[in-house]
Amino acid sequence: MKLNKVRTKNLVGTLIVVSLLGIILGLRWKTWFSNLPELLYTTPDSITRLTVVPGQRMCRDVTITWRAGVKLVDGWADVTRLTKDSLNRIVYLTDKKRYKAKKQLVPSRGGIDVYYHVALKDLQPGGNYKVVVHTKSASNSDSTIVHMPNEDKPLNFLYLGDIQDISDRIAKERMNYIKPILKEMDFTLQIGDLIERPMNTYWNLVYNSCGELFKKQFIATPGNHEVIKGLIKRIDPRWRAQFNFPINGPISQLGLSYYVDHPYCRFISINSNNVDLPWQLYDQLKWLEQTLKSATQPFIIVFMHHAVKPVRSTRTHPIMFHMIRPLLEKYHVDLVLQGHDHSYARTTHPDEDKKVDFTPPVYVISTFSSKCYENGFSRAFDRMGSGIAFYSKIKITKTKIQYEAFTFDGKPTDRFALVREDRDPKLSRTNAKDALFIDQTGNLPEYLLFNQFGNSKKARERREAYKEAVKKRYSQRN
Ligand SMILES: [Fe+2]
Ligand SMILES: [Fe+2]
Repeated sequence: MKLNKVRTKNLVGTLIVVSLLGIILGLRWKTWFSNLPELLYTTPDSITRLTVVPGQRMCRDVTITWRAGVKLVDGWADVTRLTKDSLNRIVYLTDKKRYKAKKQLVPSRGGIDVYYHVALKDLQPGGNYKVVVHTKSASNSDSTIVHMPNEDKPLNFLYLGDIQDISDRIAKERMNYIKPILKEMDFTLQIGDLIERPMNTYWNLVYNSCGELFKKQFIATPGNHEVIKGLIKRIDPRWRAQFNFPINGPISQLGLSYYVDHPYCRFISINSNNVDLPWQLYDQLKWLEQTLKSATQPFIIVFMHHAVKPVRSTRTHPIMFHMIRPLLEKYHVDLVLQGHDHSYARTTHPDEDKKVDFTPPVYVISTFSSKCYENGFSRAFDRMGSGIAFYSKIKITKTKIQYEAFTFDGKPTDRFALVREDRDPKLSRTNAKDALFIDQTGNLPEYLLFNQFGNSKKARERREAYKEAVKKRYSQRN
């Protein structure tokens, strides 16, 4: 009798769990597993999507990639070093070298692309190179000037959040705005969700609107909008083929999680789309720990799409928070750049209940997109912004990271510095001290302008609640 009761109890419990799982799967099926079909396309024979990314040694190695046609033919790059004469005029040195390209056929859901790339090694730090790329069947060529960062001068880069636009007009306007700034930069770091969907039309859109970003040195980490959904998430095969980031990551994430070294800083990309299956998480954590431990530079910057502490009100990410974050803190990472939330936020204490302290890592979330999400108002965030787009300029010297974030009309909204004494080479990374965090925001305003609520009764109530929360935040801060 007793046994029967226990069995019935177990059966009912199992049925409830299975039903709940069924309901959750039913509700989330589209979000987790379903992909819109990609329209069929034919890649033109002309050269497109010229992209320059650093090799593992940012000041000496670089990889140039381009796309052309649907058949594997010969491709090559002509590389000429440039210098300046006494009147500061550009002079083309005569030692033009020709490099044969590696070629790769990449089938996607809508067509076939052929990508070509050359990896240039041992270039001159601080040098400038004219690169002209060709493909046998293409009637055109394309070119760019590649600038190699200096090993012993300040390193400057732009940090951009999700781009992910569905019309290229706004992205083009923003791109035009930052073009003069881009000239002063050594490279751009983009945080994923470059595109709205893993489709040829959206890749075309981002290259049409933001092509200059790719022709200068560019680093990025994959976002969830570059993912082809399924039980096992795959990054769109075009992503890896058209960037060719260094192959120094964990086996399951080659070209997606990787690192790039400058003498002042190690930059580490974590593919945060692939941390939910146990073997992927194990692989990533093991690699991340080794990569953090072996860094010899004064600074470490980690970048990934999903945030340790999301600023969007409805989001949490337990794996980033409980599995990735402890490693970032253990190895004294200085700055963590993130995206995905289409808002701006900065914290040094993502655990909001912890006594507030201002020790690194500094976690930042940013967005470039015209698509905006409603931010939450957690006490964890020392700076926030929403309803508009932002860009950040970051300058690294041997002893300092200087960070500034702006709106796209040039108004500064966040500013801080991270300062380190010259690092004692005898100290292991775990025994290294945290950098000194200096908040320089002073009276800079926050821009909490989110207003994409809609017009239903519920939406109007949410708008009012949001306005109240903004008022409360400002009154508590003043
Ligand atoms: Fe995202
Ligand atoms: Fe996004």
